[in-house]
Parts: sequence; C-alpha cells; structure tokens
Amino acid sequence: SLERFGRVQALQTQRKFASTLTAIKDETETANTEAKQCSTFQSMQEERRERAERSVLISCPPKFNESKFLKLLSTHGTVKKYFFYHNSTTNAVVEFSSRNSIASLMESTRLPSGSSIPFKSRLMSLKWPDTQSPLRKVKLQDLTPPTPLDTIKKLSKKNSIDEQLQCLMDIYQLTEESISLRYLVCSLLGDLAGVYFPQSVIRPFGSTVNGLGRLGCDLDMILDLNGTYEGSQKRSSPHLEYQVKMALSERAMVQTILSVIARCLEKFGPGFGGVESIPHARCPIVRFSHETSGLSCDLTLNTFGMKSSELLFLYGQLDPRVRPLLFAVRFWAQNHGITKVVPGAWITNFSLTLMEKPQFKPEANLFIRNPFEEDLNVSKNVNEKQLSNFVTLCQKCAWISQTQNVLKPLSGSVKEFNSPWGFVALLPEHMYTPVFATLKRKKPSVNITDLFKTLKLTKKTDANEGESVVAD
Ligand code: CTP
Ligand code: MG
Repeated sequence: SLERFGRVQALQTQRKFASTLTAIKDETETANTEAKQCSTFQSMQEERRERAERSVLISCPPKFNESKFLKLLSTHGTVKKYFFYHNSTTNAVVEFSSRNSIASLMESTRLPSGSSIPFKSRLMSLKWPDTQSPLRKVKLQDLTPPTPLDTIKKLSKKNSIDEQLQCLMDIYQLTEESISLRYLVCSLLGDLAGVYFPQSVIRPFGSTVNGLGRLGCDLDMILDLNGTYEGSQKRSSPHLEYQVKMALSERAMVQTILSVIARCLEKFGPGFGGVESIPHARCPIVRFSHETSGLSCDLTLNTFGMKSSELLFLYGQLDPRVRPLLFAVRFWAQNHGITKVVPGAWITNFSLTLMEKPQFKPEANLFIRNPFEEDLNVSKNVNEKQLSNFVTLCQKCAWISQTQNVLKPLSGSVKEFNSPWGFVALLPEHMYTPVFATLKRKKPSVNITDLFKTLKLTKKTDANEGESVVAD
C-alpha cells in the first residue's frame, strides 16, 4: 500500500507540474515576444546534444601548427566549429558537420602502445613530432571565472545598481564555448553508459541549462535510461513488452545502476577521475571530475531535476530582470560563505532561487516550498546555525543599505576609487578592501550591538506604523 501511495503521490506531482508549467507557458506567451523561446527549451537541449555527438575533444601539445592540425582533421570531413582552451594542457573542441567524420577520425586514430583496454573514446591526444615546424601558440578561450578583484573594479565603474547586476551576469555567465564543452562531456559519458544501456542519454540539468550557470559551476547530469524526456507512453492496444529484470525497489535499482556506471568510469573512462558513489543520499548520485575539461560532475537518475531546471529557465525568460538578480543573489551568498560547493546543512543556490516571502512552518528551521509540491521543503537540510548565519547576514546587509547611503553611485569620475557602493557594498569587506585600500578612507564600524539596536528601533517604528520591514 506504501508503494501505491507513492505512485498516487507521483501522479499528483506530475499533474501539478503539468498544470504549473502550462500556466507559466501561457503567461509567458502573452508576456513578450521573447517568450517564444520558452517552448523551445527541450529543442534547444536536443540541438546542443546532437552537436556534441558530432564533436571530439583533443588534448594538444603546448605548441603545434594550427592550420596543419585543421588540415589533418579536414581529411575526415568538414570542421564546422572549433576552439581551444587551456586546462593543464591546451585542448581543442572540434565539431564536425557530420557524424560520419567522427567514425572516419576514430578509424584512423591509434591506441597508445601498450594499452590493455581497447576502449576508443572521443577524447584523443594530438601527437606532434618536434620536427614539424613552425610551432605556434593558438588563441585560447577563457573558460574560467574572472578574479574577485577584476569583478569589483568593473562593478564599481558602473553608473547604477541595474548596470552592476547586468555586468556581473555578463562576466560570469556561461559562454557559448563553455556550454558546448559541458554537452560534450555529457556525450562522452553517454558513450560509456551506452555500453550498458544503449537507449540511454546523458543530459545536463541544473545551472548548465537553467540560464543561471556561472563559469566554473558544477555539471549536473541525468542518466535518462529511456532516452526520452517524458518516459514511455501508456497504451491500451495489444502490444509487445520487453522482458526486464525486476529490481527489489526503484531506489535499489537506481543505486545498482549508479554503482555500475561509477565502476565503469573509474576503470575504463579516459579523462574521468575522483569517482565517488553516494548511494545513501536522499537522491543517490555519483560524483566525479572530468580532468580535461576541469569540470566537477554529479550524475543522478532522478529526472525531476530537469523539470525544475526548465521552470527556472522559464522564469528567466519571463522577465529580463530575473537572471541578473539571481546571479547577484547567488554571487553574494557564495562570497559570504552562505552557500558552499559541497552539500551540507547550509542553504543551496537552488533553495535561494526559490525563496519567497521565509513562510511560517513550526516544524522546520527554514521552509522553502517546492514549486511542484507545496508541502515539500527544499531547504529541509538547513540547520539552525546556518539559518541564523543567513538571517544575521541579511539583517546586516539591510542595515548597510538603509543607514550608509550606499545605494546611490558616487558622482564624478573618481567614484570607482572612492568607496564601495551599490551591490559591491553588500559583499564581504575582504573582497573590496584591496580596491579601495589606497585611499585609507575611514571605515564605518559595523558594531554588532549597534546593529541590533538599530534593527530593534526600526522594527518598533515600523510596527507603530503598522508594517514590518527588517524581519522579512
Ligand atoms: N534540485 C531539485 N531539488 C533540490 C535540489 C536540486 O530539483 N532540492 C535540482 C534543481 O533543478 C537544481 C539542480 O537539481 O537546479 C542542481 O542542483 P544544484 O547543483 O544544487 O543547483 P544549481 O541550480 O545547479 O546551482 P549551482 O550553480 O550551485 O550548481
Ligand atoms: Mg549545479
């Protein structure tokens, strides 16, 4: 009966998701012309996936001849796009016009001498004899995030907070090249998973696809066993059914599949390393790194993440202010140590993104509603201490914005060298101090006792006026 209860709940969730999504899509369509892109979320993913399947990743020596390299590749077909980036070594992402070119290239590629595992992947190494001249450096795409110092300098030169947030997004968002590389890594992993499950597809989700991805963010992947977004259709007509091995439970099946993939990656997956299975998590995952791309990856079987990724993508399309605002909130939280790259008892970027006016639920420290299932709390993991850190930081930032007149840009050409203002003033001091240190300006002392006195005073005044400001 528990299983039935689970199925009923899953069905209800699915229905709620369908109606939420339909409502958002409808709203989006009438909102503005940009909304047309919303309905193409899946087709965009499919197009990128197809391009990744026509691509190879080649690790190159520090110096080689670019035109000779391209000539070598062109013997296998038309090279549609390519770029180089550096991560320990120089690497090339090469997209051919046709998949046949990949087959031809792989046919001509040798296995290294002495290799005992004849697994031929689309991750290759370019061997360039020293005698071949002239050797040149190639133009490299920078796929790493800018330094905090550069960021602060750029933001401080802007003329309004809107411009600061837009600039932050422009310099941190995933570039076209970094997205292509992410799809290629999924596709390379898909080749390995395909050995066991030929119909399966590895799809990126989370910040790689939801429009909120920052250079350097992790790569979340779903192993979609059926290779379809929606799963198989129910049919009432006579039909044939495959015989399959029945697992004890869905969770046991997920754990087994992930452990098989983890072992395969560890033993046979060139470029993949640091493989760690986390089978007992609420949502079992395999965590690993892809060395050639420098990406930290999480693999799951739970396709629900794809739906929430689409939802966040749609929010971003609904209003052009959504993405810059969320980039700023995520950047602010990360630099204050409110969010961390490893999972734990702290708030995550996903929860922060969904936060709406903190609802009263006595049983939870912090309750952030799952948009598809109102009773589910996506911030269930957050403990009291982390919540208290978060609230204190919010109060401190509210206090800075209200009392220090930092929200207005300073006039004149010296504004960027004077003192932090706008969004910069809400970042940790250690980030902006090096930029403004030369002026030896008198720092306002943020005494925590004064801060709470001010907050109490503000609350009292507001309560007298019949509204509360700070506590929210
Ligand atoms: N997710 C979810 N429910 C949760 C946590 C995560 O549905 N309780 C899904 C969301 O779609 C989220 C994705 O899993 O976007 C990946 O989670 P995470 O990596 O934590 O968030 P990202 O949005 O990818 O942000 P980041 O840049 O920090 O990786
Ligand atoms: Mg992520």
